[in-house]
Amino acid sequence: MDTDKTFATRLVDWHRRHGRHDLPWQHRCDGVPDPYRVWLSEIMLQQTQVDTVIPYYARFLARFPDLAALAAAPVDEVLTLWSGLGYYARARNLHKAAQAVADFHGGNFPSRAEAIARLPGIGRSTAAAIAAFAFGERAAILDGNVKRVLCRAFGVAGFPGQRAVEARLWALAESLLPPTDVGTYIQAQMDLGATVCRRSRPACARCPLADSCVARREDRIAELPAARPRKAVPQRRVRVAVIHAAGRVLLEQRPPAGIWGGLLALPEIPDSEPDAGRWLQTRFALAPRASLQLAPLNHAFTHFRLEITPIRFDVEDAGRSVAEAGHRWLALADLDAAGLPTPVRRILDALASAA
Ligand code: ADE
Repeated sequence: MDTDKTFATRLVDWHRRHGRHDLPWQHRCDGVPDPYRVWLSEIMLQQTQVDTVIPYYARFLARFPDLAALAAAPVDEVLTLWSGLGYYARARNLHKAAQAVADFHGGNFPSRAEAIARLPGIGRSTAAAIAAFAFGERAAILDGNVKRVLCRAFGVAGFPGQRAVEARLWALAESLLPPTDVGTYIQAQMDLGATVCRRSRPACARCPLADSCVARREDRIAELPAARPRKAVPQRRVRVAVIHAAGRVLLEQRPPAGIWGGLLALPEIPDSEPDAGRWLQTRFALAPRASLQLAPLNHAFTHFRLEITPIRFDVEDAGRSVAEAGHRWLALADLDAAGLPTPVRRILDALASAA
């Protein structure tokens, strides 16, 4: 289609004037790209910015100048050279892949994207980028930057991580591939996504696709690509006992595993005991002078939300009546030193200021 050709041509023309041409891994030996260098750079660039990668890439190549050197090295040495780049699974997979190439491909890096994608740590998009840069294969990429460019340029709605949206984007990416010079086109897509069609404050005035960009025309740049849908976070409820005697409260050490592992917290009243007063009696042999359900408070954990309902029990000075291991009477005046979980602290602060 003409419009498709225009898309690639505009990008390639833009890249000629504004793209990145002198990155260390773009240098060729005798006019031919080195697949090992291309692969190493693409793995380093997966979650890391170009400027950060450059010195790591140089040190790595100085120590492991070719695939055979990397395959023969102890993994610890590979990890040491990687330290600071983060996402260390990348380094472990790089090392495993070097050994796989040495063992199963006679030391020659596979040239087809399909075969490259079977090596450890290399997904479909990275495999296509390596095949295109190193071997000139006509393969489409779809990394985060390209997803953003396509979602905006073509007004693709829906979260790009969703299977159906991703399938649509792959089909679109393949349909847009130019007939030749795919390596330049791919680099142009990456560079445009990184420097112009940025996630926030994109530089549309400098964009070669601005004229036809759906997101721009429809004023949807901030909405595209769509954000990951928020998962419904499970809600849990718990009742806790604020057992109060003469300016002190009874705290219980949490089990080592689970929320607030090992910290002191308010004792939980089990769901199996609807009568909180009776629970206090059987659990601690304490009889309250008064009891009062307080306003619940909410606390957000990563994977769930917890609604905590405190039930206050005023008891006579408990003396030694609770001598179990893992329990402690804490003076409200000493809250600061106790290192309590935030919601517990909030409940006790309220109690201390009411007392
Ligand atoms: N991110 C991933 N691959 C890249 C490349 N070749 N150039 C710039 N950024 C990239």
